[in-house]
Amino acid sequence: MTTLITGGTVVTAEGTVAADVLVAGEKIAAVLARDLTGEPGGPPADAPAAEAADRVIDATGKYVLPGGIDVHTHMEMPFGGTFAVDTFETGTRAAAWGGTTTIIDFAVQAKGTSLLATLDKWHAKADGNCAIDYGFHMIVSDVNDTTLKEMDACVAAGVNSFKMFMAYPGVFYATDGEILLAMQQAARLGATICMHAENGIAIDELVAQALAAGRTDPVNHGLTRPPELEGEATSRAIALAKITGCPLYIVHLSASQALEAVAEARDTGQNVFAETCPQYLYLSLDDLARPDFEGAKYVCSPPLRPKEHQDSLWRGLRTNDLSVVSTDHCPFCFKDQKQLGRGDFAKIPNGIPGVEHRMDLLHQGVVAGRLTLPRWVEVTSTTPARMFGLYPRKGVIAAGSDADIVIYDPQAKQTLSVATHHMNVDYSAYEGWELTGKVTSTLSRGRVVVDDGQYAGAAGHGTFLPRGLNQYLL
Ligand code: URP
Ligand code: ZN
Ligand code: ZN
Repeated sequence: MTTLITGGTVVTAEGTVAADVLVAGEKIAAVLARDLTGEPGGPPADAPAAEAADRVIDATGKYVLPGGIDVHTHMEMPFGGTFAVDTFETGTRAAAWGGTTTIIDFAVQAKGTSLLATLDKWHAKADGNCAIDYGFHMIVSDVNDTTLKEMDACVAAGVNSFKMFMAYPGVFYATDGEILLAMQQAARLGATICMHAENGIAIDELVAQALAAGRTDPVNHGLTRPPELEGEATSRAIALAKITGCPLYIVHLSASQALEAVAEARDTGQNVFAETCPQYLYLSLDDLARPDFEGAKYVCSPPLRPKEHQDSLWRGLRTNDLSVVSTDHCPFCFKDQKQLGRGDFAKIPNGIPGVEHRMDLLHQGVVAGRLTLPRWVEVTSTTPARMFGLYPRKGVIAAGSDADIVIYDPQAKQTLSVATHHMNVDYSAYEGWELTGKVTSTLSRGRVVVDDGQYAGAAGHGTFLPRGLNQYLL
């Protein structure tokens, strides 16, 4: 099966070019730059003939992008006595609708269990269910000799990034000593430690004080997790990474204090990287303070910050101190699940839905003049691919790469709403937001999974992606 995407503007991290894209089977066969007359150049001798393509997609007036790569999602995640409501099937379908063609989700080691058994369990959840390709990071919540040894086998199995938590004592929390041991092992393996950097021990004291004083509303989730405690934990993680020589990737960075620590480490040449998420760029503590328990919809960790932090995050994206935008998609329904924390904000399951709207929300940064078009593609696709060992199979429009392609209409208008989104959750954190730009079609390994606004994908099309090393390491 060959497909020719004609008339569009190909946008990559390198720049934009008027080009047709020829797809053969699951791969991109050729990128045919058009000359000033609009005529495409000839394909390489070994590419199939463009004129004879089985299918032609007209992308005139549209962008042709490498599929989005969301390196931080939590489908079916066990958390706070419940589970994130998107399954691998519903969550990857929603991702495809929004122009994301790869996710990296988190396998979650429960205390007392092995990493390899955990990996098997997560394979069983995802296998045969995904609409798009997927990989795994491993959450390490029980550091012991067996776990440390099993990190080798995880890397051999294509899982070479491990998330650890400085937050959530009693659940996922690891002590500094445990982090040090895991970092030493990761450094030996060339693997990356992904860090949830918040000082959970201090936070838990603040939470207990707030509850004892009768401050139980959702806004207290934000007030008891001050940005200084994210900054402090980030600096501590960086220090531990420095002395162990371990590559460090700070996940869901939300606070300017944490960004300063990352920027300083990067300036010294340390292998330190960071991502932020759309919720930290657009939402704020004011949303957590919404009345009638509505703030619970916005409970995630680290929490939404006062608006002042947003400008520094946008600046960090420009300067590359923030290299990636992921979603931390972790959806819990307002009706049944967020209600677990009525009268006790600490029991609200942590997480915000977003896998469907990352490309669109970041496109608003282009519309507003905060990001260039190539940078939009870089932070949502190309850098994630390089950071997590998927490049050049993913993250670029080039001959030989997987035909994960998004056709994006930059002029289309859309209104985000629970009534129209495809995520399996009963609210939208962006209800009523009017956006410019929308996905027209999405291809995953050559298969059209969203076809001019119609879903055409299938559970089981998505395959597991064993990943290589972080390609930014020095
Ligand atoms: O609130 C969040 N972020 N929930 C998901 C778990 C995590 O820490 O990433
Ligand atoms: Zn986290
Ligand atoms: Zn997360």
